Amino acid sequence: MQTQPILVTGGAGFIGSNFILQWLASEGTPVVNLDKLTYAGNLGNLEKVSGDPRYSFVHGDISDRKLIGGLLARSRPRAIVHFAAESHVDRSIHGPDDFVRTNVNGTFALIEEARAYWTELPQEEKAGFRFLHISTDEVYGSLGPKDAAFSEATPYSPNSPYSATKAASDHLVRAYHHTYGMPVLTTNCSNNYGPYQFPEKLIPLTILNAMNGKPIPVYGDGKNVRDWLYVADHCEAIALVLARGTPGETYNVGGWNEKPNLEIVHAVCDIVDEMAPRAGGSRRELITFVKDRPGHDRRYAMDAQKIERELGWRPKETFETGIRKTVRWYLENEVWVRDVTSGSYRQWISTHYSV
Ligand code: NAD
Ligand code: TYD
Repeated sequence: MQTQPILVTGGAGFIGSNFILQWLASEGTPVVNLDKLTYAGNLGNLEKVSGDPRYSFVHGDISDRKLIGGLLARSRPRAIVHFAAESHVDRSIHGPDDFVRTNVNGTFALIEEARAYWTELPQEEKAGFRFLHISTDEVYGSLGPKDAAFSEATPYSPNSPYSATKAASDHLVRAYHHTYGMPVLTTNCSNNYGPYQFPEKLIPLTILNAMNGKPIPVYGDGKNVRDWLYVADHCEAIALVLARGTPGETYNVGGWNEKPNLEIVHAVCDIVDEMAPRAGGSRRELITFVKDRPGHDRRYAMDAQKIERELGWRPKETFETGIRKTVRWYLENEVWVRDVTSGSYRQWISTHYSV
């Protein structure tokens, strides 16, 4: 068993916490989770492993170079899996500052400290070290209805402050391989859904509003297309790229599952109707078309052939199975939902972690 830990950044968020839970259930290596605990980070996601001796949590910001340098020296990780980011497009439109701070400057601080640490490692550890950067399909821009799906060779064309800052961080990470020979890897993934997703994103927002009889906002004409992937499949892809990916390479990860938003919302409404029937009409009646998001990308689609060909990864979950699991999870986890939406969790954090 490898005893050197992996360092996960942003492990209290949606994908990071799913990744840590899966990792500890299937691998022996310990995990150190560094997270700033913004509104999107919730330690409740990791309750199941909080007492596991292989798991430890550090409260801090990836931009804090002193903290990162000290943490790397102390914990001596064999890899860094970098999830930490501001991740919501709508928030990036209203306030891009935090996106530049964390996604660009934060990634720079983290990889600079990682480089200093990596440079001093003994030869064997140096060769085995990995910096895995988690990114998004949104860096490629928007597709027309008949365009081929994004491949790893598609030129970057980010359209929102979120995707622009993710693109900037991807470029930095790439340059650290090209310039310094650092063993970096990047995954670009399509839209995820599943347990522990903060209810500002389309699918959890739709589930909760459907449950609570609130209007379900659909932007524009509802025909924007996204490629949806169940989060557990993404986490498996990440573990595989970490274990077997070629340093310097990027891997597109997608669900082979393009759907217009309205179809997603209809599917969710129908499953909520089935799992939690209510008197009166279908939840579809709650759908409300609202003003479009400025600069709203029309279509994303991922060509995930490279990761299948080279590493043998394909999603296990279909949209039909994944979305049923997801709706059930939200219906069965009312306490989690109440905590993340009520602000009581945020208050607990400021009392317990006064950094
Ligand atoms: P999330 O918003 O749910 O979680 C982000 C986490 O990062 C939170 O725990 C937050 O507290 C932490 N964080 C934010 N700023 C930090 C900082 N400065 N220092 C330390 N921690 C900080 O995000 P997510 O949906 O889990 O996404 C994780 C990663 O995956 C992101 O890099 C995102 O760009 C990428 N991604 C997400 C999706 C998706 O559909 N959600 C798809 C593809 C790629
Ligand atoms: P979102 O979950 O915010 O992910 P992203 O913008 O990163 O793709 O949105 C997914 C799609 O759903 C996107 O086309 C915007 C749309 N959307 C709505 O129609 N209504 C909503 O309330 C939200 C949050 C998103």
